[in-house]
Amino acid sequence: MTANAFINVLIKQSLRTFRMVNCNPELFTTNLQNLKHLMDNLTSEHVNLDHKFQIEETWNRPGKAPMTYIQIYNDRTINVGIFILKPGMKLPLHDHPYMYGLLKVICGKAKIENYSIEPKLTERITQTASSSSSGSDDYDLNRKELVAKRNPDIVADHTSECCVLRPLERNLHEIESIDGACAFLDVLSPPYDVYVPEYGPRKCSYYSLFQELEPDIFHLLEIGSPHWFWSDEAPYKGPKLHIENIESDTEIAEQSSK
Ligand SMILES: [Fe+2]
Repeated sequence: MTANAFINVLIKQSLRTFRMVNCNPELFTTNLQNLKHLMDNLTSEHVNLDHKFQIEETWNRPGKAPMTYIQIYNDRTINVGIFILKPGMKLPLHDHPYMYGLLKVICGKAKIENYSIEPKLTERITQTASSSSSGSDDYDLNRKELVAKRNPDIVADHTSECCVLRPLERNLHEIESIDGACAFLDVLSPPYDVYVPEYGPRKCSYYSLFQELEPDIFHLLEIGSPHWFWSDEAPYKGPKLHIENIESDTEIAEQSSK
């Protein structure tokens, strides 16, 4: 498959997978496996990632943001983009509310600290906090709290398979570039801020570890965006996307599966 075709096939398969996320569990599992296989084989050449991001001077320019984001494709079903972290930088611990995600390192090396949400413990701690502080002015009901289990860290480079996160499993992560800059491509579904009927709009929140409740079980509190972290954007310079084909091919696939 040519580099030109690969990114289009990847986006088509992402749409095929996530447009039918709630239809047929077996079909979703098969589609997700096929998408993961494509992601496992994704390289920086498939998206024509600029080599300048691997050069130290790029990141040492005065005022340069510590992370650059490249938007590739976005609609109501999926968001596909590339995140590039300067050497030694962390994308702070954040969540992906009710989302699926596939993350593939395409350049450099990343350490991924990741957590799975514990729904019952989260419910218990949220109820305890709101009842014990009723009438208190310092408790913010809008601030999110979670209880989550820390999974073993993942160290990934371009030879590693992609990481998959689900609505509960591995849903929170912190990503650190090690031994230089690193870049990874994310497919997320549904995108942040898209309205989901049962849950409403969903924003990305950052968290800090508040307390270790048991070994590897942490109480997490939402925090504001850390002052040392911000991002800028660069244009996508990879192969042209054939959006019309993506839309029509996916619709044909959906109809034929009904
Ligand atoms: Fe993320």
